[in-house]
Amino acid sequence: KKITLDYSQSLHLIDQKELDFLQEKVSQCHELLHSKTGEGHQCLGWLDWPEQYDQEEFLKIQEAAEKIRKQSEVFIVVGIGGSYLGARAAIEMLNMLACTCKHEEQTGAPAIYFAGHNMSSIYLKNLYNNIEGKDVSINVISKSGTTTETAIVFRLLKEYMEKRYGRKEAGKRIFVTTNKCKGALKTLAGRQGYETFGIPENIGGRYSALTAVGLLPMAVAGIDIEQVMAGGQAACRDLSDDSLERNPAYQYATIRNLLYVKGKTIEVLAYYEPNLFYFGEWYKQLFGESEGKDGKGIFPASLNFTTDLHAMGQYIQEGRKDIFETTLNIEESEDKIIIKRAEDDSDGLNYLQGKTLDYINKKAMEGVMRAHCDGGVPNLMLCIPRISPYYVGSLIYFFEKACAMSGYLLGVNPFNQPGVEAYKRNMFHILGKPGYESL
Ligand code: PA5
Repeated sequence: KKITLDYSQSLHLIDQKELDFLQEKVSQCHELLHSKTGEGHQCLGWLDWPEQYDQEEFLKIQEAAEKIRKQSEVFIVVGIGGSYLGARAAIEMLNMLACTCKHEEQTGAPAIYFAGHNMSSIYLKNLYNNIEGKDVSINVISKSGTTTETAIVFRLLKEYMEKRYGRKEAGKRIFVTTNKCKGALKTLAGRQGYETFGIPENIGGRYSALTAVGLLPMAVAGIDIEQVMAGGQAACRDLSDDSLERNPAYQYATIRNLLYVKGKTIEVLAYYEPNLFYFGEWYKQLFGESEGKDGKGIFPASLNFTTDLHAMGQYIQEGRKDIFETTLNIEESEDKIIIKRAEDDSDGLNYLQGKTLDYINKKAMEGVMRAHCDGGVPNLMLCIPRISPYYVGSLIYFFEKACAMSGYLLGVNPFNQPGVEAYKRNMFHILGKPGYESL
Protein backbone atom coordinates (compact mmCIF):
# COMPACT_ATOMS: atom_id res chain seq x y z
CA LYS A 1 0.00 0.00 0.00
CA LYS A 2 1.09 3.53 -0.74
CA ILE A 3 0.77 6.91 0.90
CA THR A 4 -2.16 8.74 -0.68
CA LEU A 5 -3.74 12.17 -0.45
CA ASP A 6 -7.45 12.79 0.02
CA TYR A 7 -8.26 16.40 -0.82
CA SER A 8 -12.03 16.06 -1.10
CA GLN A 9 -12.46 18.34 1.94
CA SER A 10 -10.78 21.18 0.06
CA LEU A 11 -12.76 21.02 -3.10
CA HIS A 12 -15.09 23.81 -2.00
CA LEU A 13 -12.10 26.15 -2.26
CA ILE A 14 -10.16 24.74 -5.14
CA ASP A 15 -11.49 23.53 -8.39
CA GLN A 16 -10.30 20.37 -10.12
CA LYS A 17 -9.92 22.64 -13.19
CA GLU A 18 -7.38 24.76 -11.33
CA LEU A 19 -5.38 21.65 -10.58
CA ASP A 20 -5.54 20.54 -14.21
CA PHE A 21 -4.44 24.02 -15.26
CA LEU A 22 -1.36 23.75 -13.04
CA GLN A 23 -0.27 20.42 -14.54
CA GLU A 24 1.92 22.19 -17.10
CA LYS A 25 3.70 24.24 -14.43
CA VAL A 26 4.17 21.12 -12.32
CA SER A 27 5.68 19.30 -15.30
CA GLN A 28 8.09 22.19 -15.86
CA CYS A 29 9.17 22.17 -12.21
CA HIS A 30 9.48 18.38 -12.34
CA GLU A 31 11.77 18.71 -15.33
CA LEU A 32 13.88 21.33 -13.51
CA LEU A 33 14.18 18.99 -10.54
CA HIS A 34 14.98 15.83 -12.44
CA SER A 35 17.29 17.39 -15.01
CA LYS A 36 18.97 19.17 -12.09
CA THR A 37 18.87 22.53 -13.83
CA GLY A 38 16.65 24.55 -11.47
CA GLU A 39 17.61 26.81 -8.57
CA GLY A 40 19.64 25.02 -5.93
CA HIS A 41 20.37 22.13 -8.30
CA GLN A 42 23.70 21.62 -6.53
CA CYS A 43 21.70 20.29 -3.57
CA LEU A 44 19.66 17.59 -5.29
CA GLY A 45 21.65 14.60 -4.10
CA TRP A 46 18.65 13.47 -2.01
CA LEU A 47 16.45 13.08 -5.10
CA ASP A 48 17.80 9.69 -6.22
CA TRP A 49 19.53 8.88 -2.93
CA PRO A 50 17.26 5.97 -1.86
CA GLU A 51 18.12 4.22 -5.13
CA GLN A 52 21.78 5.19 -5.21
CA TYR A 53 22.98 5.34 -1.64
CA ASP A 54 26.42 4.17 -0.71
CA GLN A 55 26.00 0.48 0.22
CA GLU A 56 29.45 0.22 1.75
CA GLU A 57 28.79 3.10 4.10
CA PHE A 58 25.39 1.59 4.90
CA LEU A 59 27.10 -1.59 6.15
CA LYS A 60 29.51 0.54 8.16
CA ILE A 61 26.53 2.25 9.77
CA GLN A 62 25.00 -1.09 10.72
CA GLU A 63 28.28 -2.32 12.19
CA ALA A 64 28.87 0.88 14.14
CA ALA A 65 25.30 0.74 15.47
CA GLU A 66 25.89 -2.81 16.71
CA LYS A 67 29.10 -1.74 18.41
CA ILE A 68 27.41 1.25 20.03
CA ARG A 69 24.54 -0.91 21.26
CA LYS A 70 27.00 -3.35 22.85
CA GLN A 71 29.22 -0.79 24.51
CA SER A 72 26.65 1.74 25.70
CA GLU A 73 23.82 2.22 28.12
CA VAL A 74 23.41 5.76 26.86
CA PHE A 75 23.73 7.16 23.36
CA ILE A 76 23.84 10.93 22.87
CA VAL A 77 23.02 12.38 19.47
CA VAL A 78 24.49 15.87 19.16
CA GLY A 79 23.11 18.03 16.36
CA ILE A 80 20.57 20.70 15.41
CA GLY A 81 18.07 21.41 12.63
CA GLY A 82 18.41 19.00 9.75
CA SER A 83 21.21 17.25 11.59
CA TYR A 84 18.87 16.27 14.39
CA LEU A 85 15.16 16.29 13.67
CA GLY A 86 14.93 13.46 11.12
CA ALA A 87 16.49 10.93 13.47
CA ARG A 88 14.43 12.10 16.41
CA ALA A 89 11.23 12.03 14.37
CA ALA A 90 11.85 8.45 13.23
CA ILE A 91 12.92 7.18 16.64
CA GLU A 92 9.96 8.72 18.43
CA MET A 93 7.55 7.68 15.73
CA LEU A 94 8.61 4.09 16.06
CA ASN A 95 8.46 4.35 19.80
CA MET A 96 12.08 3.44 20.26
CA LEU A 97 12.87 6.36 22.49
CA ALA A 98 12.63 5.82 26.18
CA CYS A 99 15.22 6.95 28.61
CA THR A 100 14.68 4.02 30.93
CA CYS A 101 16.53 0.81 31.74
CA LYS A 102 13.30 -1.05 31.01
CA HIS A 103 13.65 0.10 27.42
CA GLU A 104 17.18 -1.29 27.26
CA GLU A 105 16.02 -4.66 28.57
CA GLN A 106 13.25 -4.73 25.99
CA THR A 107 15.09 -3.68 22.86
CA GLY A 108 18.80 -4.01 23.56
CA ALA A 109 19.10 -0.35 22.70
CA PRO A 110 20.77 2.22 24.88
CA ALA A 111 18.72 5.09 26.20
CA ILE A 112 18.89 7.82 23.60
CA TYR A 113 19.36 11.48 24.44
CA PHE A 114 19.60 14.47 22.17
CA ALA A 115 21.86 17.45 22.72
CA GLY A 116 23.45 20.27 20.77
CA HIS A 117 20.04 21.59 19.69
CA ASN A 118 20.03 24.23 22.42
CA MET A 119 22.51 26.08 24.60
CA SER A 120 20.69 25.61 27.87
CA SER A 121 22.91 24.88 30.82
CA ILE A 122 19.92 23.49 32.72
CA TYR A 123 19.35 20.98 29.90
CA LEU A 124 22.99 19.93 29.85
CA LYS A 125 23.21 19.67 33.63
CA ASN A 126 20.17 17.37 33.59
CA LEU A 127 21.80 15.32 30.87
CA TYR A 128 24.98 14.92 32.93
CA ASN A 129 22.84 13.83 35.89
CA ASN A 130 20.92 11.31 33.81
CA ILE A 131 23.99 9.66 32.35
CA GLU A 132 26.00 9.46 35.54
CA GLY A 133 27.55 6.03 36.05
CA LYS A 134 26.29 4.77 32.69
CA ASP A 135 28.40 3.83 29.71
CA VAL A 136 28.11 6.45 27.02
CA SER A 137 28.66 6.76 23.27
CA ILE A 138 28.19 9.93 21.27
CA ASN A 139 27.29 10.69 17.68
CA VAL A 140 28.03 14.28 16.76
CA ILE A 141 26.31 15.33 13.54
CA SER A 142 27.10 18.54 11.70
CA LYS A 143 27.56 18.93 7.98
CA SER A 144 29.37 22.25 8.25
CA GLY A 145 31.13 21.27 11.45
CA THR A 146 30.88 24.86 12.64
CA THR A 147 27.29 25.21 13.86
CA THR A 148 27.64 27.02 17.17
CA GLU A 149 25.11 25.10 19.27
CA THR A 150 26.42 21.70 18.17
CA ALA A 151 30.09 22.70 18.34
CA ILE A 152 29.85 24.13 21.87
CA VAL A 153 27.93 21.18 23.29
CA PHE A 154 30.22 18.72 21.54
CA ARG A 155 33.29 20.46 22.96
CA LEU A 156 31.79 20.09 26.46
CA LEU A 157 30.79 16.45 25.94
CA LYS A 158 34.16 15.58 24.43
CA GLU A 159 35.83 17.00 27.52
CA TYR A 160 33.42 14.99 29.68
CA MET A 161 34.18 11.78 27.76
CA GLU A 162 37.95 12.26 27.88
CA LYS A 163 37.85 12.96 31.59
CA ARG A 164 35.76 9.89 32.16
CA TYR A 165 37.33 7.38 29.78
CA GLY A 166 40.71 8.84 28.87
CA ARG A 167 41.46 10.09 25.38
CA LYS A 168 41.95 6.72 23.71
CA GLU A 169 38.79 5.03 24.99
CA ALA A 170 36.75 8.21 24.46
CA GLY A 171 37.92 8.10 20.87
CA LYS A 172 36.24 4.70 20.47
CA ARG A 173 32.99 6.09 21.83
CA ILE A 174 32.74 9.20 19.68
CA PHE A 175 31.23 8.82 16.21
CA VAL A 176 31.18 11.69 13.77
CA THR A 177 28.78 12.38 10.91
CA THR A 178 29.89 15.30 8.79
CA ASN A 179 30.63 16.56 5.28
CA LYS A 180 32.19 13.77 3.27
CA CYS A 181 35.08 15.85 2.01
CA LYS A 182 35.80 18.86 4.19
CA GLY A 183 35.15 20.93 7.30
CA ALA A 184 36.27 21.55 10.85
CA LEU A 185 34.65 18.43 12.26
CA LYS A 186 36.12 16.28 9.50
CA THR A 187 39.58 17.61 10.37
CA LEU A 188 39.07 17.07 14.10
CA ALA A 189 37.76 13.53 13.55
CA GLY A 190 40.77 12.71 11.39
CA ARG A 191 43.16 14.01 14.05
CA GLN A 192 41.46 12.16 16.90
CA GLY A 193 40.80 8.97 14.93
CA TYR A 194 37.01 9.04 15.42
CA GLU A 195 34.96 6.75 13.21
CA THR A 196 33.38 9.02 10.63
CA PHE A 197 30.33 8.90 8.35
CA GLY A 198 29.95 11.14 5.35
CA ILE A 199 27.17 13.52 4.36
CA PRO A 200 27.32 13.98 0.59
CA GLU A 201 28.18 17.51 -0.46
CA ASN A 202 25.01 17.70 -2.58
CA ILE A 203 22.55 16.83 0.23
CA GLY A 204 21.50 19.70 2.47
CA GLY A 205 20.74 19.29 6.18
CA ARG A 206 16.95 19.09 6.09
CA TYR A 207 17.00 16.66 3.17
CA SER A 208 19.52 14.36 4.85
CA ALA A 209 17.38 12.17 7.12
CA LEU A 210 17.91 9.10 4.92
CA THR A 211 21.71 9.43 5.01
CA ALA A 212 24.00 8.53 7.92
CA VAL A 213 22.61 11.66 9.62
CA GLY A 214 19.37 9.85 10.38
CA LEU A 215 20.35 6.24 9.81
CA LEU A 216 23.02 5.80 12.47
CA PRO A 217 20.85 7.02 15.37
CA MET A 218 17.91 5.04 13.99
CA ALA A 219 19.99 1.85 13.79
CA VAL A 220 21.28 2.34 17.33
CA ALA A 221 17.68 2.66 18.46
CA GLY A 222 16.97 -0.73 16.93
CA ILE A 223 15.10 0.45 13.84
CA ASP A 224 15.46 -1.76 10.78
CA ILE A 225 17.18 0.75 8.51
CA GLU A 226 17.02 -1.61 5.54
CA GLN A 227 13.25 -1.26 5.76
CA VAL A 228 13.56 2.51 6.11
CA MET A 229 15.56 2.65 2.89
CA ALA A 230 13.20 0.20 1.16
CA GLY A 231 10.32 2.55 1.98
CA GLY A 232 12.32 5.54 0.78
CA GLN A 233 13.19 3.69 -2.41
CA ALA A 234 9.57 2.77 -3.14
CA ALA A 235 8.51 6.39 -2.61
CA CYS A 236 11.39 7.57 -4.79
CA ARG A 237 10.12 5.39 -7.63
CA ASP A 238 6.41 6.07 -7.11
CA LEU A 239 6.86 9.81 -6.91
CA SER A 240 9.02 10.14 -9.99
CA ASP A 241 5.97 10.66 -12.21
CA ASP A 242 5.15 14.24 -13.19
CA SER A 243 1.43 13.51 -13.51
CA LEU A 244 -0.66 15.26 -10.87
CA GLU A 245 -3.17 12.49 -11.10
CA ARG A 246 -0.64 9.84 -10.16
CA ASN A 247 1.78 11.69 -7.89
CA PRO A 248 0.30 12.44 -4.44
CA ALA A 249 3.38 14.43 -3.36
CA TYR A 250 2.82 16.77 -6.30
CA GLN A 251 -0.92 16.92 -5.57
CA TYR A 252 -0.11 17.99 -2.04
CA ALA A 253 2.46 20.57 -3.20
CA THR A 254 0.09 22.01 -5.79
CA ILE A 255 -2.95 22.19 -3.54
CA ARG A 256 -1.04 23.89 -0.74
CA ASN A 257 0.14 26.49 -3.25
CA LEU A 258 -3.39 27.01 -4.57
CA LEU A 259 -4.64 27.42 -1.01
CA TYR A 260 -1.81 29.86 -0.29
CA VAL A 261 -2.78 32.03 -3.24
CA LYS A 262 -6.33 32.03 -1.86
CA GLY A 263 -5.15 33.47 1.46
CA LYS A 264 -4.51 30.27 3.41
CA THR A 265 -1.05 31.26 4.54
CA ILE A 266 -0.75 28.93 7.55
CA GLU A 267 -0.65 25.15 7.33
CA VAL A 268 -1.39 23.10 10.41
CA LEU A 269 -0.04 19.57 10.23
CA ALA A 270 -2.43 17.71 12.51
CA TYR A 271 -1.84 14.23 13.88
CA TYR A 272 -3.72 11.98 16.28
CA GLU A 273 -0.77 9.88 17.47
CA PRO A 274 1.43 11.71 19.97
CA ASN A 275 4.50 9.84 18.79
CA LEU A 276 4.29 11.94 15.62
CA PHE A 277 5.24 15.06 17.61
CA TYR A 278 8.81 15.14 16.33
CA PHE A 279 7.68 14.31 12.84
CA GLY A 280 5.72 17.56 13.09
CA GLU A 281 8.90 19.33 14.21
CA TRP A 282 10.82 17.83 11.28
CA TYR A 283 8.08 18.89 8.83
CA LYS A 284 8.15 22.47 10.20
CA GLN A 285 11.89 22.69 9.76
CA LEU A 286 11.76 21.18 6.28
CA PHE A 287 9.07 23.52 4.96
CA GLY A 288 9.90 26.58 7.07
CA GLU A 289 13.53 26.70 6.01
CA SER A 290 12.78 25.69 2.44
CA GLU A 291 9.94 28.09 1.65
CA GLY A 292 10.12 31.05 3.99
CA LYS A 293 12.10 33.46 1.84
CA ASP A 294 11.74 36.43 -0.51
CA GLY A 295 8.80 37.63 1.60
CA LYS A 296 6.85 34.49 0.73
CA GLY A 297 5.96 31.10 2.15
CA ILE A 298 3.28 29.19 4.02
CA PHE A 299 3.87 29.29 7.79
CA PRO A 300 4.14 25.64 8.88
CA ALA A 301 2.65 24.73 12.24
CA SER A 302 1.84 21.39 13.81
CA LEU A 303 -0.73 20.29 16.36
CA ASN A 304 -1.22 17.17 18.41
CA PHE A 305 -4.90 16.22 18.34
CA THR A 306 -7.07 15.59 20.18
CA THR A 307 -4.89 17.08 22.96
CA ASP A 308 -4.49 20.44 21.24
CA LEU A 309 -8.17 20.69 20.39
CA HIS A 310 -8.52 21.70 24.02
CA ALA A 311 -5.99 24.47 23.46
CA MET A 312 -6.06 25.53 19.81
CA GLY A 313 -9.33 23.99 18.62
CA GLN A 314 -11.27 27.17 19.34
CA TYR A 315 -8.87 29.27 17.28
CA ILE A 316 -8.95 26.95 14.33
CA GLN A 317 -12.74 26.70 14.38
CA GLU A 318 -13.55 30.37 14.84
CA GLY A 319 -10.35 32.41 14.58
CA ARG A 320 -8.74 34.01 11.52
CA LYS A 321 -9.48 32.21 8.33
CA ASP A 322 -5.95 32.03 7.02
CA ILE A 323 -5.36 28.40 8.00
CA PHE A 324 -5.60 25.10 6.21
CA GLU A 325 -5.04 21.75 7.83
CA THR A 326 -3.16 18.67 6.66
CA THR A 327 -4.14 15.64 8.71
CA LEU A 328 -1.86 12.65 9.01
CA ASN A 329 -4.15 9.64 9.08
CA ILE A 330 -2.43 6.45 10.24
CA GLU A 331 -4.83 3.94 8.74
CA GLU A 332 -3.95 0.75 10.59
CA SER A 333 -3.19 0.53 14.26
CA GLU A 334 -1.91 -2.37 16.31
CA ASP A 335 -4.24 -1.25 19.02
CA LYS A 336 -6.87 -3.64 20.26
CA ILE A 337 -7.84 -1.73 23.37
CA ILE A 338 -11.57 -2.29 23.72
CA ILE A 339 -14.09 -0.29 25.71
CA LYS A 340 -16.10 -2.67 27.87
CA ARG A 341 -19.59 -2.33 29.21
CA ALA A 342 -19.66 -1.03 32.80
CA GLU A 343 -22.36 -2.00 35.31
CA ASP A 344 -22.43 1.56 36.49
CA ASP A 345 -22.82 3.67 33.37
CA SER A 346 -22.72 6.95 35.25
CA ASP A 347 -20.05 8.23 32.82
CA GLY A 348 -22.53 7.48 30.03
CA LEU A 349 -19.97 5.64 27.92
CA ASN A 350 -21.71 2.29 27.49
CA TYR A 351 -22.75 3.36 23.99
CA LEU A 352 -19.11 2.79 23.05
CA GLN A 353 -18.94 -0.77 24.32
CA GLY A 354 -17.09 -3.11 21.99
CA LYS A 355 -15.38 -0.26 20.15
CA THR A 356 -11.60 0.05 20.12
CA LEU A 357 -9.88 3.17 21.37
CA ASP A 358 -8.36 3.59 17.91
CA TYR A 359 -11.82 3.51 16.31
CA ILE A 360 -12.91 6.32 18.62
CA ASN A 361 -9.75 8.31 17.85
CA LYS A 362 -10.45 7.92 14.12
CA LYS A 363 -14.07 9.01 14.50
CA ALA A 364 -12.84 12.04 16.43
CA MET A 365 -10.58 12.79 13.48
CA GLU A 366 -13.50 12.57 11.06
CA GLY A 367 -15.58 14.84 13.25
CA VAL A 368 -12.79 17.39 13.61
CA MET A 369 -12.10 17.49 9.89
CA ARG A 370 -15.77 18.07 9.13
CA ALA A 371 -16.11 20.75 11.79
CA HIS A 372 -12.98 22.59 10.68
CA CYS A 373 -14.02 22.36 7.07
CA ASP A 374 -17.43 23.84 7.99
CA GLY A 375 -15.56 26.53 9.91
CA GLY A 376 -13.73 27.60 6.75
CA VAL A 377 -10.55 25.58 7.29
CA PRO A 378 -9.98 23.32 4.28
CA ASN A 379 -8.53 19.94 5.03
CA LEU A 380 -6.12 17.67 3.26
CA MET A 381 -5.74 14.14 4.55
CA LEU A 382 -2.56 12.22 4.02
CA CYS A 383 -3.25 8.51 4.45
CA ILE A 384 -0.33 6.47 5.75
CA PRO A 385 -1.03 2.73 5.83
CA ARG A 386 0.71 2.20 9.19
CA ILE A 387 3.64 3.32 11.30
CA SER A 388 6.60 1.11 10.46
CA PRO A 389 10.24 1.62 9.44
CA TYR A 390 9.17 1.17 5.80
CA TYR A 391 6.57 3.91 5.96
CA VAL A 392 8.89 6.19 7.92
CA GLY A 393 11.27 6.00 4.95
CA SER A 394 8.40 6.59 2.52
CA LEU A 395 7.00 9.48 4.50
CA ILE A 396 10.34 11.24 4.77
CA TYR A 397 10.89 10.98 1.04
CA PHE A 398 7.28 11.99 0.30
CA PHE A 399 7.65 15.25 2.22
CA GLU A 400 11.08 15.98 0.75
CA LYS A 401 9.73 15.59 -2.77
CA ALA A 402 6.59 17.59 -1.99
CA CYS A 403 8.65 20.35 -0.40
CA ALA A 404 10.97 20.63 -3.39
CA MET A 405 7.99 20.87 -5.79
CA SER A 406 6.14 23.26 -3.50
CA GLY A 407 9.18 25.57 -3.31
CA TYR A 408 9.58 25.60 -7.06
CA LEU A 409 5.86 26.33 -7.56
CA LEU A 410 6.16 29.17 -5.07
CA GLY A 411 9.14 30.53 -6.97
CA VAL A 412 11.81 30.17 -4.28
CA ASN A 413 14.96 28.10 -3.98
CA PRO A 414 13.90 25.37 -1.52
CA PHE A 415 17.46 24.25 -0.87
CA ASN A 416 19.15 27.28 0.70
CA GLN A 417 18.61 29.14 3.97
CA PRO A 418 20.29 32.56 3.70
CA GLY A 419 18.07 34.04 6.42
CA VAL A 420 19.47 31.79 9.13
CA GLU A 421 22.75 33.70 9.02
CA ALA A 422 21.31 36.99 10.37
CA TYR A 423 20.98 35.87 13.99
CA LYS A 424 24.36 34.17 13.85
CA ARG A 425 26.11 37.38 12.71
CA ASN A 426 24.59 39.34 15.58
CA MET A 427 25.35 36.61 18.11
CA PHE A 428 28.97 36.37 16.95
CA HIS A 429 29.35 40.15 17.12
CA ILE A 430 27.88 40.29 20.62
CA LEU A 431 30.08 37.39 21.74
CA GLY A 432 33.19 39.07 20.29
CA LYS A 433 34.03 36.38 17.73
CA PRO A 434 37.10 37.49 15.75
CA GLY A 435 36.08 38.86 12.36
CA TYR A 436 32.67 40.15 13.50
CA GLU A 437 33.85 43.30 15.36
CA SER A 438 32.71 45.85 12.78
CA LEU A 439 29.07 44.70 12.42
O1 PA5 B 1 18.57 22.25 6.86
C1 PA5 B 1 19.63 22.79 7.11
O2 PA5 B 1 20.53 22.95 6.26
C2 PA5 B 1 19.91 23.27 8.51
O3 PA5 B 1 18.80 23.12 9.32
C3 PA5 B 1 21.08 22.52 9.11
O4 PA5 B 1 20.79 21.15 9.12
C4 PA5 B 1 21.39 23.00 10.52
O5 PA5 B 1 21.62 24.37 10.52
C5 PA5 B 1 22.61 22.27 11.07
O6 PA5 B 1 23.70 22.46 10.24
P1 PA5 B 1 25.01 21.59 10.36
O7 PA5 B 1 24.69 20.20 10.00
O8 PA5 B 1 25.98 22.21 9.41
O9 PA5 B 1 25.48 21.69 11.79
